[in-house]
Amino acid sequence: MKRFIDSFLLSLHLTTTSSAFLIHHHVRRNQHPHLKASQRRLRLHLPSSSVTLHDRFRKDSVPTFSVRKPKVLHPVENEDLKLLLLENISQEAVKALRLQGFQVDHSTKAMSEDELVQKIGSYHAIGIRSKTKITERVIKAASKLLVVGCFCIGTNQVDLLTAANSGIPVFNSPFSNSRSVAELVISEIIALSRQYFQRAFEMRQGIWNKQSKSCWEIRGKTLGIVGYGHIGSQLSVLAEAFGMRVLFYDVINIMPLGSARQVESLSALLAESDFVTLHVPELPETMNMISTEQLAEMKKGAYLINNARGKVVDIPALINALQSGHLAGAAVDVYPAEPGSNGAPFDDQLNSWSSTLRTLPNVILRHILEAQRMIGEEVSSALIRYLNYGSTIGAVNFPEVDLRAITLEQPDHIRICYVHNNIPGVLRQVNEVLSPYNVEKQYSDSRGDIAYLMADIADVSPADINKLRELISKTSANILTRLLV
Ligand SMILES: NC(=O)c1ccc[n+]([C@@H]2O[C@H](COP(=O)([O-])OP(=O)(O)OC[C@H]3O[C@@H](n4cnc5c(N)ncnc54)[C@H](O)[C@@H]3O)[C@@H](O)[C@H]2O)c1
Ligand SMILES: *[C@@H]1O[C@H](CO)[C@@H](O)[C@H](O)[C@H]1NC(C)=O
Repeated sequence: MKRFIDSFLLSLHLTTTSSAFLIHHHVRRNQHPHLKASQRRLRLHLPSSSVTLHDRFRKDSVPTFSVRKPKVLHPVENEDLKLLLLENISQEAVKALRLQGFQVDHSTKAMSEDELVQKIGSYHAIGIRSKTKITERVIKAASKLLVVGCFCIGTNQVDLLTAANSGIPVFNSPFSNSRSVAELVISEIIALSRQYFQRAFEMRQGIWNKQSKSCWEIRGKTLGIVGYGHIGSQLSVLAEAFGMRVLFYDVINIMPLGSARQVESLSALLAESDFVTLHVPELPETMNMISTEQLAEMKKGAYLINNARGKVVDIPALINALQSGHLAGAAVDVYPAEPGSNGAPFDDQLNSWSSTLRTLPNVILRHILEAQRMIGEEVSSALIRYLNYGSTIGAVNFPEVDLRAITLEQPDHIRICYVHNNIPGVLRQVNEVLSPYNVEKQYSDSRGDIAYLMADIADVSPADINKLRELISKTSANILTRLLV
């Protein structure tokens, strides 16, 4: 439930703050030999801009509304953030990012490593799909890069560890397809129960087969959902609307939607379900989670559906269960190994059992298509949340940290975003720097060698902003310090 509340709050935060700008002062250690110079340049510029800043703060500090609104500001730094979007990323994403004032270069093509090394140095963010590889060499050349957006589901094309160690969070689009997958599962449940593909295949061969043995409506049948997350819970609602009885199994306790019921064990779910559908992530614990033993626990004549991850089902065991007639059919949308490109064969060289699987009746074989528009929205909003507000919620290689928004009633608050090495004593150094100020809120978390601290500081004068940034970026563990005001 907490997850639902979190994502609700997050979307609320987004819709109320999406027009806000925050300033980016970023300092990455050991990457800019000219860093000191640019810092000095900024300080020299400050007096003039500080006057306007201060004036605006004064004006805004008289609240004329009763609802607390997030603070809206403009960058003082002249350098606009530059984004490079490759591989024909959707125009919705381009629009959303330009609306934030970012300079967006859009290309329909992927880039080779050499091209990237040449070009990436001038960009603060890059958006890619699966064809562009962000290797260690590319990351080393990306002296200004703050964030990577993968406008797809997988992130294997990015060297995630090197990115994290350079202070670069990587975002992808894990949830854009949730609804689409849930709908697809409903269609597969109906198609399986009507032997739809089998009958259609026969008709194409000129065979008239009116037998309706083992074909039934899905109303009143039991659906067992393994993994009640974004997809599983959506599916639960849709299935009940079709009159199905819904059970689910999950490793955490989750409040059921509608009349669904959580069961205590996978075995209990398998024993009662007419359809079993898998919606768990790929983890060591979920590898071959459905194998010979679990298939034997399923009801005779039941169906298995997998469009979670290829390695969750032991496919040779599934083939046995189908051949013996214990299962009446299956739908498989993901495979342990998948062809690298369109038109590449799905054969025994890829998976030793491919040809056998292809010959089984009432087995639906297909593969996943990505919903590019939804992906564009999801990933561009993650990039905006990180660039403007420092939030790393949803990053795949980074500690996930966020703070609630600074409001208009807090005009001279600043936000410190500090990516650092996860070593003892760092927070003491930072807190020493912050001790003369009022730390309004602060949160830090770590993942492996990388830690990330966000802190909102009250009553910081424009002149102090640079001082703070300089002191924090000089701490021994600094990887990247950004100040947002
Ligand atoms: N086929 C597609 O197009 C497509 C699209 C999106 C996601 N997916 C995949 O579908 C799966 C589910 O996606 P989601 O967005 O619902 O994820 P999610 O993270 O929202 O939900 C996953 C659920 O599985 C539960 N879980 C984890 N380990 C478990 C275990 N061992 N036993 C039982 N439950 C367990 C978690 O507690 C969580 O509730 C993921 O693997 C995802 O990669 C596939
Ligand atoms: C880019 O995407 C748009 C919209 O999806 C599509 O119409 C267009 O043909 C694509 N261009 C290329 C070169 O792939």
